[in-house]
Amino acid sequence: MDTGSRVAIVTGAAKPGSMGHAVALGLAREGMNVVVADLYEPGFAQVERAVAEFGRQCLCVRADVMDPQDMNAVAEQAVACFGRVDALVNAAGGSWAIRPEDVADGSPPELAITAVNCTDEQWRSIVGVNLDAVFYACRAVVPHMIRGNGGRIVNFSSMAGRKGGHPGSVISSGPYAVAKAGVIGLTKQLALELAPYGITVNAVAPGIIASWRGQKVLSGLDERQRQAMAAGVPMRRVGQPEEVSEIVVALCTDELTYVTGAVFDINGGMYSA
Ligand SMILES: NC(=O)c1ccc[n+]([C@@H]2O[C@H](COP(=O)([O-])OP(=O)(O)OC[C@H]3O[C@@H](n4cnc5c(N)ncnc54)[C@H](O)[C@@H]3O)[C@@H](O)[C@H]2O)c1
Repeated sequence: MDTGSRVAIVTGAAKPGSMGHAVALGLAREGMNVVVADLYEPGFAQVERAVAEFGRQCLCVRADVMDPQDMNAVAEQAVACFGRVDALVNAAGGSWAIRPEDVADGSPPELAITAVNCTDEQWRSIVGVNLDAVFYACRAVVPHMIRGNGGRIVNFSSMAGRKGGHPGSVISSGPYAVAKAGVIGLTKQLALELAPYGITVNAVAPGIIASWRGQKVLSGLDERQRQAMAAGVPMRRVGQPEEVSEIVVALCTDELTYVTGAVFDINGGMYSA
């Protein structure tokens, strides 16, 4: 497929090891130019270089996905630079290392954040980065896709959004699970609203993935805990970012043209709807 002059915006793609980073490189490999929207400026030069190795251009924009004005600016800069937006991947998210002050080196909380013990600030930031942000980005980008006669949107949900986050798990967060369930609802609603314009909207729901974030969690576990985590996966291992990005990339190109409103479970067999 020749995706020559096409353009994709990917949020949460600046950290090496992140799933957004794998998506950005996968799209560049398919021939797309990439706009990265992220708070992690130290990663900008590296992702620009990596995209350039595929002969494509990369524009990095410092943006907090929780800020609607930042996301409007990202869409405007993408159009000013490349003249079009064909795909949007909303990959930024998580329940820690999501605010400007701790995005570079935040760590998982020692106690699980549940839907009843979380503070107002935790609720706002976790729902903000995982759900509000997807709304802001889609609202900013969709008018440009409509003008371009179509587009592809892929949103990152989570296995937690499918079934809740077990409060006994080290990686559990109640508000995160709620927000990721909301992403599925938003995806299905947007799919219906945007189908007449030739815009597909789908979601991925990863299980345990060894991204930058996943690696940080895994490195805090002892060997017994790591083995127990792997044993909880029917495939007996955690997933790699590229095992998620391959589906996201396919959803952004010409390969899955009649799929919209779908949620792809990518979890080594841990959950299927
Ligand atoms: N890792 C997992 O096991 C897992 C499982 C299910 C779902 N997910 C979801 O997949 C997506 C990607 O996760 P990941 O593990 O690759 O995360 P990651 O932490 O490795 O990467 C997240 C990226 O988003 C950026 N970011 C964070 N907060 C931001 C903000 N407010 N504004 C702009 N950029 C911001 C970071 O700088 C980073 O580049 C997230 O939505 C996450 O919730 C992850």
